[in-house]
Amino acid sequence: MLTYALKPRIDRKMTKPIILGIETTCDDTGVGIYCDQQIVANIILSSVKEHQAYGGVVPEIAARRHATNLDVAVKKALMTANIDYRAITHLAVATEPGLPGCLHVGKVFTQMLGYLWRVPVININHLYAHIFSAGIDQANLVFPLLGIVVSGGHTAIYLVHNPQQFVLLEATQDDAIGEVYDKVGRALGFSYPAGPIIDKLFAEEKATITFMNKALHRKVMSYAGLKTAVLNYINQRKQKNQPLDLTSICSSFQKTIIDDLINRIKKHLQNHRVKLLAIGGGVSANAYLRSKLQQVGIHSQIAPLAFTNDNGAMHAYYAAQLLAMHNSS
Ligand code: KG4
Ligand code: ZN
Repeated sequence: MLTYALKPRIDRKMTKPIILGIETTCDDTGVGIYCDQQIVANIILSSVKEHQAYGGVVPEIAARRHATNLDVAVKKALMTANIDYRAITHLAVATEPGLPGCLHVGKVFTQMLGYLWRVPVININHLYAHIFSAGIDQANLVFPLLGIVVSGGHTAIYLVHNPQQFVLLEATQDDAIGEVYDKVGRALGFSYPAGPIIDKLFAEEKATITFMNKALHRKVMSYAGLKTAVLNYINQRKQKNQPLDLTSICSSFQKTIIDDLINRIKKHLQNHRVKLLAIGGGVSANAYLRSKLQQVGIHSQIAPLAFTNDNGAMHAYYAAQLLAMHNSS
């Protein structure tokens, strides 16, 4: 194989890592650069507008956009950081989980770049990167921690012993929380992604509707039952030509789903001695969730708003933590 015939361009052991992270798991083409303990570029080119007419991400459209956006995003990131590509010591790429076609574009592009630049490629689990985004521009993460990812595609809680050791405590059996936000928002006529719109409408005192939802009281994490309850409520009122109180519906839905997540977090904190709670993913931008996390009885480190949604920077940051762990052992 030609790849192995090429010598690395630089002695990576002697050089501080400068990592370029790439992520193409869904509709955002993200490229970020980590250098000198900080993120120096965070470029996100989104195809979100092209999906809005469909009410959700169309994988084929997203994959094609990654193919055209990646090259542009890498150039922009290098320019923003004012870094020559020859200074990059490692590439990091999200390899799982995500939309298969989108992941494939990102993986092939990154492997090609690694070959051309003669730098190693570090494969990154996208969910772990979301959890580690809580360490960007904030205090270093301390272990063991309770790691939570709440995004459009995933909702999962892990016990994290170190950057490489994750124990899955529970994950949703069906819809992710962000996905439910988007589906409820779609039924209310909101554009995609609906999470931020519902979040803005939220007023706790208006959370007066009780959505019948046996699934929420079950042991397993499941949000499809709540989704159906909210959608049924909306459809029944529409059929009867009754007005929809958007604030009340959104507030009641948001309070129900976030309170359930908070209760689950509290249960895990009772069962596991951890030093910190670290949370990331699109839904971690939610204002009500952020305020409730202050009441769980342990220090919560939440991803900075610039890094809650999908981005390449958190993959570079997480790769740096993996390298630091390897270099110290
Ligand atoms: O992490 P992300 O960019 O994509 C995935 O990896 O899936 O998350 C996107 C999701 C969308 O479902 C969006 O509606 C949701 O995060 N989201 C929010 C908020 N901002 C984004 N959900 C609730 N409240 C928000 N403020
Ligand atoms: Zn994500």
